[in-house]
Amino acid sequence: MERILIIRKIFNEAIALIDEAGLSYWHNEADAPLGLSEMGTRLAEAEAIICLLTDRVDAQVMDAAPHLKIIANVAVGYDNIDVAAATERGIIVTNTPSVLTECTADLTFALLLATARRIVEADAYMRAGKFEGWELFQPHLGVDVFGKTLGIVGLGRIGAAVARRALLGFNMSILYTGQNPKPDAGRELEARFVGLANLLRHSDFVSIHAPLTAQTRHLLTLNEFRLMKPSAILINTARGPIIKEADLVQALEQDLIAGAGLDVYEEEPEAHPGLAALPNVVMVPHIGSATTETRRRMALMAAENVAAVLGGGRPLNPVNFTSRNP
Ligand code: GLV
Repeated sequence: MERILIIRKIFNEAIALIDEAGLSYWHNEADAPLGLSEMGTRLAEAEAIICLLTDRVDAQVMDAAPHLKIIANVAVGYDNIDVAAATERGIIVTNTPSVLTECTADLTFALLLATARRIVEADAYMRAGKFEGWELFQPHLGVDVFGKTLGIVGLGRIGAAVARRALLGFNMSILYTGQNPKPDAGRELEARFVGLANLLRHSDFVSIHAPLTAQTRHLLTLNEFRLMKPSAILINTARGPIIKEADLVQALEQDLIAGAGLDVYEEEPEAHPGLAALPNVVMVPHIGSATTETRRRMALMAAENVAAVLGGGRPLNPVNFTSRNP
C-alpha cells in the first residue's frame, strides 16, 4: 500500500525527500495525464496527494479517498482544489508560495516589455529577412515603459515583486487595487491604493496578480476595457478566467486597448482563436514559474508539506486550517 499518490512526474529531489522520510509512494512517472478518478484503489488507500494545477481535486475525488490527510498542490494558485470540501473533510491543502514569486514577476515584466516594444513581431520580421535598415518611422514603433503608470490588480507577493521591478528598474508610478489597502507594501513601493475603475482609467499598463475566486472570475469584461486608455496594455500572469477572453478579443479588435501580454487563458490549454490573429498580443503557454530552479523548488516544497503532515507535524504552507482561512 502506497501512502502518497504523486499523480504527475516530479523532480527527483522531491522523490528523494520522500524516500528519506521513509514514506511509500506511487509516482506517475509516465507523466501521461491520469484523472484522479481513474486511480481506483490507489486513491482509496492514499493519505496524501501531490498534484499539479491541471488536476481537478473535487469533493468526489476526496470521497473516493477516505484516508486522505493532505492535498499538496505544486503551484501557488489552488483554484483546482475544492478547498471548502477539503476543509469539511478535515483534509489539509497546501500550496507553494514565495518560491516562484521572483520568477513569475520576471515573466510578467518580460511580457510587458515584449508587448510594449513589439519584440515578437520584430523578431518574426527579422527572421523573414525584411529588415532593410534603420528608419525614423520603422514598422515596429512601440511605446515607452520607463516612467509610465503601472496598475497592479492584487498586490500580493507576486504583485509586489512586479511593482518593485517597475519602481526600481523603470521609475514607474504604481497604482494598486485589491480587497484591502496594504499600507506597508504601499509605502515601500510608493504605490497608491485605488478602486478598480480608477486603476483602469489611469494606468498605462495593467497587470493582474489576483487569485482566481468567485469574486475575481470575469473581473475584466468589455465594461472594464472601456474604462482603460486606448494606449493601455494588459498583462495577465495570474489566472485566465479573471479576464472574459472573448471580451478581450473584442476590446483589442475595436482598439479599446492597445495590446495584451498573456501567460494564462480562460479554457487552458485552449486560447480564444481570435487572440492568435492579433499582432498586438504576445502569448506564452502558462510559463510564469517555468524555470528549472523554480519548478524544482515548488516540487520540493510540496514534498516537504506531505512529509511534515504524514510525519505527524504541521504543514509548512497550509491554505486552510489557518486563522486566515479556517
Ligand atoms: C502557477 O500558475 C501557479 O499557481 O503556481
